[in-house]
Parts: sequence; C-alpha cells; structure tokens
Amino acid sequence: PLLEEHQRPLSGRHVLVTAGPTHEPIDPVRYIANRSSGKQGFAIAAAAARAGARVTLVAGPVDLPTPEGVTRVDVTTAREMLAAVEGALPADCAVMVAAVADWRVAQEAGQKLKKDGSAAPAPLELAENPDILATLAISGQRPRLLIGFAAETENVIAHAQAKLARKNCDMIVANDVSGGPGESVMGGSRNRVHLVTVEAVESWDDLPKEEVAARLVDRIASRLDSVRP
Ligand code: CTP
Ligand code: CA
Repeated sequence: PLLEEHQRPLSGRHVLVTAGPTHEPIDPVRYIANRSSGKQGFAIAAAAARAGARVTLVAGPVDLPTPEGVTRVDVTTAREMLAAVEGALPADCAVMVAAVADWRVAQEAGQKLKKDGSAAPAPLELAENPDILATLAISGQRPRLLIGFAAETENVIAHAQAKLARKNCDMIVANDVSGGPGESVMGGSRNRVHLVTVEAVESWDDLPKEEVAARLVDRIASRLDSVRP
C-alpha cells in the first residue's frame, strides 16, 4: 500500500545515487579496482525510493539486486560513470557514494599482456580520472543538494572538511575504512559515519548500513524542504 504523504517526504524529487567501485581496464582480462561493495549506496537508493523519490542509481560493477522502484544504470569505468551521471541530470539531490578509481591505465592494452621471461615487468602508466562530484558541483545543472562520501583511513574529519571545500559540495559523509579485508567497513554491513557540513560535524553511532541510509534520507528531505524554491 502507498504510504501517506507525510511518510513519503521525497515525493516529486529526483535523487541521483552513485555506488560501488569502478573497474579500470589494464588489458582485456585485468583491471584496477577497490574493495567497495556498493552496499551503502544501494541502501541509500532503496531508502530514497521508499521515501517517494524518483531514484536513478548509477552502479559500478557490484553483485547486488536492484532495489525496488529504482532505475539502475550499470557502468564499469569512471568515465562511463561520469557520462551516466550527466545523462541522468537534472536531479534535486545527488549522493555520490561510489568509490571511483582515482586513476586509470593511460593506455589500455588491446591484447592480454604477456610475461617476458627475461625483462622486468613493464610499469603501468596511470592517468587521473575525472572527478565526478567536483564536475557536478560546477556544472550548470548542479543538483540543489550535493552530498559526497569520503572513505578515510586516518584524520577522518579533517580530510572530510578539506574535501567539502575542495569539491564545493553541501555535505561530506565521512567514514573510517581502516582495517583489513573482513574487518573493514568496506564490504561489511555496518557503518559509523560523520556528517560534515560547513556549519557542523555530527557523528552517528555504528549502525547497519540500511539505518544510515534511512536517517540520511530524512536529512535530505528536510534540507530540500528548507531550500524549496
Ligand atoms: N569522487 C568522484 N569522482 C572521482 C573521485 C571521487 O565523484 N574521480 C567522489 C566520491 O564518489 C566521493 C567523493 O568524491 O563522493 C570523495 O571521494 P574520495 O575518493 O574520498 O576523494 P578524492 O578527492 O578522490 O581524494 P583521495 O585522494 O582521498 O582519494
Ligand atoms: Ca579517491
């Protein structure tokens, strides 16, 4: 059954979410990636849809089902993610949860790289990927509310405050991803986040990623309402 209007605080809104890692090809069988599972981003997309938003979820390569009521666009590389994000605009709010690979291989090999018994392995030359969040922040179609995520392993708050300024966004949701595979937030089911804005830093308890998503969606709704044109 449809929820009452007051329980669907994002109805009429378009929320754009990026999630998961990107994969940057080295050759036809190898790629550069990171440990992002996509769980937090997918949970945010699901919560926004439940709150009545039209939701576009631009997803990197992850093994997760599409949340109910969400339009999903699958991409592989950072450059594809940028194109998909631009193609989904305009949006009232964008939540950039994806762990975008910062670098790609400058020259993707057309054929599988082979060992050469005698020589040392060829170094991989890297090129920097576009910053999707920063690009969106200065675009003519900047969403009214622009939220970034920051996974840090040290100085979590300070790094997040620097990113907030550098990327011209309205909020950075920061978390500590130190810890090896198995104990890290990355891939896990819980998250302890800090909401960093120019006005304040608010730290939440360690919560299931679904609960982080639901609370964040409440914040998004009230911030969009407070700046409703
Ligand atoms: N981001 C992005 N495009 C990139 C890199 C990052 O859109 N090429 C977004 C992420 O989705 C996230 C935010 O920017 O919302 C912060 O990402 P993060 O990797 O923490 O920031 P970087 O600027 O890449 O800094 P760092 O050197 O710490 O990785
Ligand atoms: Ca990065």
